[in-house]
Amino acid sequence: MNNAVQFKAAASAMAAIGATAHFDWRLAGYDLQCSQAHVEMLYRQNIICQADASQLQSGLEQLSQQVRVGEFVAPPDAEDIHTALELQLEALIGPVAGWLGTARARNDLAVTALKLWLRDQIDTLLGKLKVLLEAFRQQALRHAATVMPGYSHLQVAQPITFGHLNLAYAETLLRDGERLLFARAALCECPLGSAALAGTSFSIDRTYTAQRLGFERPSANSIDSIGERGFALDFLGAASSLALNLSRFAAEVVFWSTQSVGFIVLPKELVSGSAAMPHKRNPDAAELIRAKSGRVLGNLQALQVVVKGLPLTYFRDLQEDKEPLFDSADSLHLSLDAAISIVNLMQPQPEAMARAASIGFITSSDLADWLVINLNIPFREAHHLVARLVQCAQNNNLELGELPLELRVAIDPRLAVKHWPSFSLEQSVKARRSYGGTAPERVRQAAEEFALRLSKLNEINNN
Ligand code: ARG
Repeated sequence: MNNAVQFKAAASAMAAIGATAHFDWRLAGYDLQCSQAHVEMLYRQNIICQADASQLQSGLEQLSQQVRVGEFVAPPDAEDIHTALELQLEALIGPVAGWLGTARARNDLAVTALKLWLRDQIDTLLGKLKVLLEAFRQQALRHAATVMPGYSHLQVAQPITFGHLNLAYAETLLRDGERLLFARAALCECPLGSAALAGTSFSIDRTYTAQRLGFERPSANSIDSIGERGFALDFLGAASSLALNLSRFAAEVVFWSTQSVGFIVLPKELVSGSAAMPHKRNPDAAELIRAKSGRVLGNLQALQVVVKGLPLTYFRDLQEDKEPLFDSADSLHLSLDAAISIVNLMQPQPEAMARAASIGFITSSDLADWLVINLNIPFREAHHLVARLVQCAQNNNLELGELPLELRVAIDPRLAVKHWPSFSLEQSVKARRSYGGTAPERVRQAAEEFALRLSKLNEINNN
C-alpha cells in the first residue's frame, strides 16, 4: 500500500469511529432549545445586535420546524448532530449563523442538550412507572383476600394473599421511582456557558440561560460541568435498579403462568404459541422484560468504565456517554409498557392458588402462635413443640388439627386441652394483621396508603 492509500484509509477510519449523528440526532430538538436560549441571552447582554439576533432566531425557528417534521436529517458524514445543525443553519441564513458560537462551545452545548433529553426521558418513564404501580394496586384491591402459598426457597412456607404480593412489587418499584427522581434532581445545573472548559470572556448571563431552559441554576464550575457524567451514571443506576426489579417480577410471572403452577393466565396478546404443541402459551413478554435487564445493567457498567480513567475535562471518550443512555431508556420504555399490560391483563386463578396452598402443615406457624397466646408457652419452646407435633402427625398420617389428646399429651402434658385448634388458610391470613402483614383488611388499608404515596410521587414529579 502506498502512503496516500493509507492516509485515505486513516481518514475514513477516523470518520467512521468518530461519527455520532446516526444516534445523537435524538438531541436535535434539545440542541436547538439551547441555541434559542443562548441567542436570547446574547442579545439581552448586548453581545450581539438586534438584527443578528432576529435573523438567528428565525433561522433557528425554521430549523426546529424542519427537525420536527423530519425534513432535516443530519448528513451521514456529519461528525455529530451539533455540527450538522450549525451547518444547516448557515445554509439557511448565511454567515450571520457564525454569531451563534459566541461564548459557548460544543463541549457545553452537547452535555446541556443531553441533560435536557434525559430530563424528558425520566419524566416519561416516571409516568409509565406510575401507571404500572396503579395497576399493581388495583390487583391488590381486587385480590386482597385471595389466598395463595407464600414461598421461601420456592418451598411453600405460609399462606399469603395475592393482593399482598402485588403490593410487594409495588413497594419495590416505588423505590425505583424515587431513584429516578433522585437522578432527575441531579440534572438541576445548567452547563451551558462553561464554553470549552474555562468559561468565557464575554459578559454572559448564565442564570438567565439556565432558567430559560428549566434548570435551577448554572453549574458552579466550568471545568466540572464539562467533564462530569455523574448525572448520566445516576440515571443508569436508577435504570438498572428498575430493570432488575422488573426482571424479578417477570421471572415470577413466568413461574406463575406455567401449567404446573397455573396461578395466572396471560392473554393471548402477551404469549406466543407453538404450532406443533398447541397447548403451550409461552410467556414471551415476561421473558423479554427479564432479558432486557441484561443490557440495562451492562449499560451502567459500560459508562462507568468509559469515565473511570478520565481526568477532567473533555475527552473524545465522552461521546460514548450517549448510546448507553439511549439504549437503557428505550429498553425501559419497552419493558414498562409490557409490564403494564401484564399486570392489567393477567387473570389470577384463585382455585389453583388455594389448591397449591392446601398442603399439609402450611399453617403450622399458626399453631405455634396459638400455643404462645393460649397456653402461655414461650415462643421458642412452642416452636420446638410444633416441630415434634408435625413429626408425630406425619408418622400417624394426620393433619395437625386432627391429633388426638393422647398423642399430644405424650409430647407435652400442657397440650391436654379440650379444644385443640385447626387453622384454615383463610384464618391464617386473617390473623396476620400486623402492620405490613398479609391480612385482607391490612392489604386493603395498605393499598389505600399506597395511593397516597403514589400521588406524592406525582407531586414531586410535577415540580
Ligand atoms: N459529539 C461530541 C460528544 O458528544 C460533542 C463534543 C465535541 N467536543 C470536542 N471537543 N470534540 O462528545
